[in-house]
Amino acid sequence: MIEKFINKIMQGDCLELFKNIPDNSVDMTFADPPFNLKKNYTSYSDSLDFQEYLNWCEKWIYEMVRVTKPAGSIFLHNIPKWLTYYTACLNKIANFKHWISWDAPTSPMGKSLQPAHYGILFYTKEAGSSKIYELRYPHKRDRKQGFLLKDYGGKKDLLHPFGPLISDVWTDIHRIKHNKKRDPHPCQLPIHLMDRLILMTTDENDIVLDPFSGTGTTAISAKRLGRKYIGFELDKKYVEISKEKIEDTESNYKIGKSWVSFYLKDIITIRNNDWNDIKKYFIIPEPLRAVDYKKVKIKDSKLIPNKKRISCL
Ligand SMILES: C[S@@+](CC[C@H](N)C(=O)[O-])C[C@H]1O[C@@H](n2cnc3c(N)ncnc32)[C@H](O)[C@@H]1O
Repeated sequence: MIEKFINKIMQGDCLELFKNIPDNSVDMTFADPPFNLKKNYTSYSDSLDFQEYLNWCEKWIYEMVRVTKPAGSIFLHNIPKWLTYYTACLNKIANFKHWISWDAPTSPMGKSLQPAHYGILFYTKEAGSSKIYELRYPHKRDRKQGFLLKDYGGKKDLLHPFGPLISDVWTDIHRIKHNKKRDPHPCQLPIHLMDRLILMTTDENDIVLDPFSGTGTTAISAKRLGRKYIGFELDKKYVEISKEKIEDTESNYKIGKSWVSFYLKDIITIRNNDWNDIKKYFIIPEPLRAVDYKKVKIKDSKLIPNKKRISCL
């Protein structure tokens, strides 16, 4: 039954469409629902009564967990306020792993602290047997001089040449701010944010499902990383935009045999255990302590997918 939905963006209400997806059939589910902040969507009114919004969320959260395989993962992106309610519901039916804090300015709200992060809840369906890979991102550097931002003192010889392991605070991925870089959609996510979640919890050919697909960010990330996708989206126009972009996307985010995430001309996420296979494609500073002022570089620029192919950023 699920075959009919593989590599498709289905137009309709996610609660109806979920009925077609069998229990325990998807490797990873990710939801970026409307935040109930009166955003200007084409076919959805983003302003429900408080309890009505939460009741609705509980229904699709339950569906996400139901369709996820026992070793699979569930991610929910939202503002912290709503995530506190989501955890109360999820803690009863899934296994909490992390609250990822994505450092990105949000709308100014209220007169207390300025909101400066979105949360991404990371749950696995079951404790113990889950598929999770450690990731690395490039060292953070001073933009003008290129020196490492963090002072590792006399320990620079021990640094990983590519960069540190990824923590639960993400400061290196920016929201799409400029209108010319985004589709006509009020809150599109950066694709390399999705790359990171997909690389962390799935393998090639695994199935990724997004019930609020918007303009197809999750599907594009899944496709370029050699995964399968299923997207649900209420709005016809967003579905059309997604289909065009997906058509233009190739499964080519790879170095050698390893899937990686590119951002512009750099690699922004790798799996820790792929480094031994891919390090031959990089110029690594010598001696290693020179990493302090020199980045690892890809040896051959032909290894980088060309601009057209990474145009959906
Ligand atoms: C926050 S946006 C998702 C944006 C998406 N992550 C992206 O990067 O393009 C939420 C989306 O959910 C859609 N939506 C709202 N209610 C829905 C429903 N009941 N079923 C399916 N999609 C729905 C909206 O049209 C909107 O595109």
